Amino acid sequence: MSARRSHLPEPNRIERVPNARGEDTSFYVTTPIFYVNDVPHIGHAYTEVAADVLARWHRQRGEDTWSLTGTDEHGQKIMRTASANGVSPREWADKLVSEAWKPLLDTLDIANDDFIRTTDERHERTVAMFLQELYDAGHIYAGEFEGYYCVGCEEYKRLADLETPESGEFAGRLVCPVHGRPVEVLKEQNWFFRMSAFQDRLLKLYEEHPAFVQPASVRNEIVQFVKQGLEDLSISRSSFDWGVRVPWDDSHVVYVWFDALLNYISATGYGDDRAEFERRWPAVHIVGKDIARFHAVIWPAMLMAAGLEVPKTVFGHGWLLVGGEKMSKSKLTGIAPNQITDVFGSDAFRYYFLSAITFGQDGSFSWEDLSARYQAELANGLGNLASRVVAMVDRYFDGEVPELGALERGDEFILDASRQAVLQANDAIDRFALDEAVEAARRLVTTLNGYITDEEPWALAKDPSARERLATVLGIAVRGLKTLAVLLAPVIPKASARLWPALGGDGELAAQDIRVAIESGGGRVSLLDPPLFPRVELLEQSAD
Ligand code: MSP
Repeated sequence: MSARRSHLPEPNRIERVPNARGEDTSFYVTTPIFYVNDVPHIGHAYTEVAADVLARWHRQRGEDTWSLTGTDEHGQKIMRTASANGVSPREWADKLVSEAWKPLLDTLDIANDDFIRTTDERHERTVAMFLQELYDAGHIYAGEFEGYYCVGCEEYKRLADLETPESGEFAGRLVCPVHGRPVEVLKEQNWFFRMSAFQDRLLKLYEEHPAFVQPASVRNEIVQFVKQGLEDLSISRSSFDWGVRVPWDDSHVVYVWFDALLNYISATGYGDDRAEFERRWPAVHIVGKDIARFHAVIWPAMLMAAGLEVPKTVFGHGWLLVGGEKMSKSKLTGIAPNQITDVFGSDAFRYYFLSAITFGQDGSFSWEDLSARYQAELANGLGNLASRVVAMVDRYFDGEVPELGALERGDEFILDASRQAVLQANDAIDRFALDEAVEAARRLVTTLNGYITDEEPWALAKDPSARERLATVLGIAVRGLKTLAVLLAPVIPKASARLWPALGGDGELAAQDIRVAIESGGGRVSLLDPPLFPRVELLEQSAD
């Protein structure tokens, strides 16, 4: 018998989740890649945070997780913005990426694994390769097209999708309702992708895999759209040159959306590392509902044409509204993410947007609501509970987390509530109900607060004969809080990373399995100073 190397389990190592074939599961989540024509606002930040929470959550289940974000840098919109600013598109993109889009990831505490730019060599090479494959397989032909183009959307519009305002600057003209600006009539000799050939396969996909497009409202809209009849897609432009050259015709550049969608496979090795690609693909795409069509119609048709698997899910979340309208820079309603994080911190930003808005529906942002929830749920709720429990263990047990004595019904109830919170939150994550996952944790905070109020450990501490009871109550509270530290780690990573060791938690927080409530005590507490969520005075400038 050959000598075996000993594989002692590492402490707290999360057991990996095998899939049906007994392999490690892979979870690959993406955000849209953002246009670099402007700086980010909280609508973009919302998508980033949602995808990051999913990635962190799946990682903490032991899944083979990969998260991707990045920037969309080609096309007319970027070209025009750059020229209006007197620089080349490349210079403009470099500036916006380094000064705005990459710093956004720090502002929001995003733990992405990769950042792709459509001007990366790896991406441009993949676009050319993919296009050539489709051309060689007969999916691309030359044709002529005339249509209404919105540069803001970088999309040809159907007449039925346009508006004709009766008054104002653009009265009587055909206007794109998304950008509120007139469309342009373009007539071009272009290369076309035979997308219409995939209509039936797409409808079958939506029918057989309802989870492919979510939520149901977006799915219904997509199905209706495709049922009306799919046209072929113009995928090249010859009137400008800021893009990837069509490999067999260098007078054309690739249409910016066709180029951009390919980022999801160019970043994971499609062009140069097939093993990596096989390991990651297919992905879960988190996008705003405004761009669900591109992801749930054009993108799977492109993948089908190339003989590749379609994404696992395209989830179209709702819009952040300001004054009842989609927040946007072009309508001057944009709020910069750091206006919020500078006052409340990144954890509060993440917590607030995920808990206050039903994921998949539109939601309105207001400073008053943010401030009220911060105060009630984070500062007075979780933060105060943690500070009090830690302070009592410090004071009554000299910092040693006490052993449990005989359990009473109320104690069992708390242990059970912790297990339920874990089950409910994980179930919610599997349904992309991010708000429900946070809600499950919030309920546990309320339950634990009620337990402390009922058990009155400060009163027990005055009675020497109640020493064992005091130990049990604080020991149970520490276990509940430890469960919360793990459960909330994907949502409020900074606070959780302080809370876990402050409760005497053993090992790395990231190594704790998010599917299991923490039932162990032990260790020493350390005081939370400053508190997890200090009180915040809403500054004048932020309140307006
Ligand atoms: N570049 C394309 C995406 C290409 S993906 C292959 C694009 N970029 S974008 O900069 O306009 O950002 C779009 C995404 O930002 C939306 O899909 C959405 O995720 C997010 N949001 C932009 N405004 C938003 C709101 N007001 N509310 C919520 N999300 C918003 O489209």
